[in-house]
Parts: sequence; C-alpha cells; structure tokens
Amino acid sequence: MNIREFLEKFKSFSVKDFEHITYAMIKPDAISAKEEILRDIEGRGFEIMFQQERQFSKALAQNFYSEHKARPFYERLVDQMTSGPVVVLILRKDGDIPCFQYWRDELGATNPENAVEGTLRNIYTYKLFGGPEMYAEEKATNCFHGADSVASVIRESNLVLYDIAMNS
Ligand code: CMP
Repeated sequence: MNIREFLEKFKSFSVKDFEHITYAMIKPDAISAKEEILRDIEGRGFEIMFQQERQFSKALAQNFYSEHKARPFYERLVDQMTSGPVVVLILRKDGDIPCFQYWRDELGATNPENAVEGTLRNIYTYKLFGGPEMYAEEKATNCFHGADSVASVIRESNLVLYDIAMNS
C-alpha cells in the first residue's frame, strides 16, 4: 500500500485504534537483514500494515528523538539513524495488551546486552555483530525501534508518515 492510500486509512483511526497498532523501525545497522526480519516479524503474529524503506533527514531524526536532546548519546543516535536507510513499519496485533507492548516484548531490552534469548535484539545482534559484547561499543543503536506508549505511537507515526507524504 502506498503512503497516500495508507494515510487515508490512518486519518480515520481513533485513539482506541492506536492501541492495536504500533510504530516500529528496523534501524540502519540491521537493514542488511531486513527480508529475514520482516518474515520474523510476521512469524511473531504481527500484521505489517505499512512498510517503507526511507532515508531519515537529520531534521526528522532530531525531531523524532527530541525527548533525548539533553542526553549524552543524542548526537550519536541522530548520526546513526541517518547513516543509512531505515524500514518504517506500522504493525498491528490485537489482544489483551496494547500493540506497542507486544512489540517491545519481542524486541527485548534497549541495551542488547540485556535482551533475553529469542528476542529480536538478542537474535540480530548475534547474527549481525557476533554478539552483544561486540555490539556494546555502539550502544546508541540496537537494531530496532519501538514506540513506548500509545501517545508515542500517535506522535511517531504522525511525524514520520506525514514526512514521507510530504517528501514523496
Ligand atoms: P530506541 O528504542 O530507538 O529509543 C531511543 C534510543 O536511544 C534507543 O533505542 C537507543 O538506540 C538509544 N539509547 C537509549 N538509551 C541509551 C544509552 N544509555 N546509551 C546509548 N544509547 C541509548
């Protein structure tokens, strides 16, 4: 589905609908495994409602991560998020808990060193970097992003989808 078709659908979403979807990304460091990752995501029971490979501009990355602006890793995070394309994903999974939480459970801990076996960050830091020990030197990236609340799903999906629409 192209961005304009998806935005037509997206514009009709109520706050309740946002409990059943999440905003996710495959970050530049994991893009080489994107086909395998997309199959893995579907295998974990998520419907991929929208996907698009995009190069984030510096302005978009700064805005996206603005809540971390004062943190020491902010500049590195922005640099890494603009170092190559990301895969923007809108995922859906119905159930008893909000979709963003299902996705974060599949991701594992933000720091891949602490991501338990079987989680996406654990699996792909081993596959792509040989393990979280090697990866630890580059902690500002962790292969994946997942919104951390329904409010973040709404904010992040609006920010990125309208950026795509305006720049397509
Ligand atoms: P993400 O889920 O995209 O949300 C914020 C990002 O900031 C996070 O993944 C990491 O890439 C990065 N991050 C969060 N905490 C730290 C930290 N303590 N050191 C370095 N990077 C971090």
